[in-house]
Amino acid sequence: MARTIVITGASGGIGRGLALEYAEAGTVLALTGRDEERLQAVAEACRSRGAVVQTGALDVRDTEALVDWLQAIDARHPVDLAIANAGVVSGAGPAHGSEPLATALRVIDVNLKGAIATVSALADRMRARRSGHLAVMSSLAGLATQPDLPSYSAGKAGLISYGAALRIRLRPHGVAVTVICPGYIESPMLQRQRSPKPFAWPAEKAARHIRRGLDRRRRMIAFPWQLMLGIRLLPLAPPFLHDWIMAGFAAEIVPDAEGIRERGTEPESLHPPSGMS
Ligand SMILES: NC(=O)c1ccc[n+]([C@@H]2O[C@H](COP(=O)([O-])OP(=O)(O)OC[C@H]3O[C@@H](n4cnc5c(N)ncnc54)[C@H](OP(=O)(O)O)[C@@H]3O)[C@@H](O)[C@H]2O)c1
Repeated sequence: MARTIVITGASGGIGRGLALEYAEAGTVLALTGRDEERLQAVAEACRSRGAVVQTGALDVRDTEALVDWLQAIDARHPVDLAIANAGVVSGAGPAHGSEPLATALRVIDVNLKGAIATVSALADRMRARRSGHLAVMSSLAGLATQPDLPSYSAGKAGLISYGAALRIRLRPHGVAVTVICPGYIESPMLQRQRSPKPFAWPAEKAARHIRRGLDRRRRMIAFPWQLMLGIRLLPLAPPFLHDWIMAGFAAEIVPDAEGIRERGTEPESLHPPSGMS
């Protein structure tokens, strides 16, 4: 019997890597992203590996369209695994000053609310048939707050919390939930981040690692181990040392197209002239 896997944000980066990793005969892949052209290119590459592929060019902020699409897929091909991966990054940086409010709210809309909408569309259906697996793409930034990525870190921390709650609630009903927390993964998103990127992994390696963890139905997949070890030791550090270490992770995020527009529309009152407090 075919295995059905949903991956949001499959048009690039880690999502593309995951789609290709799972693309094989006997698999139905349901892939989303906003960029139709890049999404179709990934779909074609997956078909050439033997998978049956359905695509939906969707914005995860359009909750109604997203839920309708996911439930229509589920009605035709009951979903075995859904990975809520779509996400954006934004933040402050030495050259850009503070994160615009509109951008901060967008990051929460896409990364937190979009992922919650994705898994919510399928959770009760999986629960009713007592099978299925939901995964949310958080980040190590959700475990150790990145000083220059405030809304990104907050959204990813929220996903860790949401995923843990869902996991405990759904496990007795035969549904597994996994929270994925990658470190630095080479992708279009990471290219916009100017910062040290210790232990960065290629997206393909990350996808293979994530698949292994999902196959074992692990509760959390956090990697690489070197950064995870540091995160585990961090709470032992006194506050001044904690802040000094985290300041070493300062980052500058080059705004995406929406971010550039949002910077232009930021109300003046949010940025008083220098010298005013
Ligand atoms: N790269 C890293 O170092 C890293 C580390 C930890 C966690 N993560 C997380 O991993 C996930 C994938 O990141 P990535 O590095 O692969 O980034 P990426 O290369 O920028 O890919 C992001 C994907 O999300 C989709 N997406 C973005 N906004 C969307 C929206 N509003 N609606 C629907 N789809 C949307 C993009 O599709 P379109 O471009 O077609 O819209 C793209 O397919 C994200 O959740 C990210 O936070 C990344």
